[in-house]
Amino acid sequence: MTVPKRTHILNVARSTGAIERAAEILRTGGLVAFPTETVYGLGALGLDPEAVERIFVAKGRPHTDPLILHVGEESWVRDLVSTLPPVAEALMEAFWPGPLTLVLPKAARVPDLVTAGMDSVAVRMPAHPVALELIRSVGQPIAAPSANLFSRPSPTTAAHVLQDLDGRIDAVLDGGPTDVGVESTVLDLRGDEPAILRPGGVTHAELERALARRVRRRDDAEEGDIDGQPAPSPGLLTRHYSPRAEVFLYDGPDAAVTAAMRRLSDEAKSGSETTLLAFTEDIEALGAVPCTVVDLGSREHPEEAARTLYGAFRDLDKHGIARVGIRLAPPGGIGDAVNDRLRRAASGRVLRVG
Ligand code: TXA
Ligand code: MG
Repeated sequence: MTVPKRTHILNVARSTGAIERAAEILRTGGLVAFPTETVYGLGALGLDPEAVERIFVAKGRPHTDPLILHVGEESWVRDLVSTLPPVAEALMEAFWPGPLTLVLPKAARVPDLVTAGMDSVAVRMPAHPVALELIRSVGQPIAAPSANLFSRPSPTTAAHVLQDLDGRIDAVLDGGPTDVGVESTVLDLRGDEPAILRPGGVTHAELERALARRVRRRDDAEEGDIDGQPAPSPGLLTRHYSPRAEVFLYDGPDAAVTAAMRRLSDEAKSGSETTLLAFTEDIEALGAVPCTVVDLGSREHPEEAARTLYGAFRDLDKHGIARVGIRLAPPGGIGDAVNDRLRRAASGRVLRVG
C-alpha cells in the first residue's frame, strides 16, 4: 500500500498561476486532473511510460483499455502517427479543437502502455481554454482518460474528481463544470470508411456533413462491443458509465413510458429506494409519484441531459438509490451519445413498452 498523498486543488478562477503550477506537476511526471469541454481528464506525460502507468494505478484501470493522447497543436499529431490520411486532416480542420478523437496508425515513439499494445493511437485536441493552455504550457502530448475511478461515471466537476481520486493524484485543476458532459466521439480512421467507435460530443450527422461521405455508426448488432472491442462477456458492460442502482431503461410512446415509470415508482417498497430521471415533458405527464424525480431537461434539447447525466448518476450513488427509471432520448444528434451511455448503464437491456 502506498501512503495516500495530498491532492492539491488548483482553482483557475481564484488563483493566478494555477495552470502553470499544474503544468509543472505534469512536466515532472505527476498526475493532474483538468477540465475539458467534455468531462474532466486525468493527465500525465503521454510519452513517458512511468507517468502513464500512474494513471492506471490511480484509476484502477485495466491495462487492456488504451488512452487518448491530447495535443496542444494539430502539428503535434504528425509525430504520434505513422500515416496521416487526408480525411484526418479534413476532420482536424473542421472539428479541432473539439470533442472528436481520431484513431490512427501509431508511430513507434508512442508507448505500448498508452495504446494497450495495439498498433493504433487515439488523438484529440480539446477545446476547453484551460486544457489547451495547460497542454501547450507542458509542450508535450498529455495522456488523459476520464478522471474517475474505473467503473464510476465520468466526472463533470472538480468535486466529482475528488469523490473518486482525492489522495490518489497530485492535483485537480478546477475550471468549473464541463460544457458537453459526455465524452468525445471516438472515430476510427483506419478502415475504408470512417467508423464511430463511441458516439460523443460531435454527432454522426456533423461528421457526414463535413466529409460529404458515409460514416459508419455502431448498429444494434454491435451493442455487445465496448468502443469497438468485442466484450468477452456482456456482463462487462454492467459497470461501465453506470450508477450502482439497477437501471430500468424504457423506450416507446410517451403514454406507455410514463405508465411504466409510474408502475416502477409504485412498486417501490419505500419512497427512497427508487428515483426517476425524466425529461421535462414527461414530468408533467407523470403527475405525483411516491419517489424522487430528477429533471433531465427537454427531450427537444438533449444537450441538457448530456450535461447533467453523469452528475445525476453520482447523486443516485450518494443517496444509495437501488433502482432508477429512465427513458431513451430521441435518436440523432447528441441524443445518440446519451443513449449509448444509457444502454451501457442498463447493460444493454432496453425495456420496450406500448
Ligand atoms: O472526452 C473524452 O474523450 C475524455 C476527455 C478527458 O478527453 N476522455 C476519455 O478517455 O473519455 P477514456 O479513456 O475514458 O475513454 C477513451 C476511449 C476508451 O474507451 C478507449 O477504449 C478508446 O477511447 N480508445 C483509446 N485508444 C484507442 C485506440 N487506439 N483504438 C480504439 N479505441 C481507443
Ligand atoms: Mg472513461
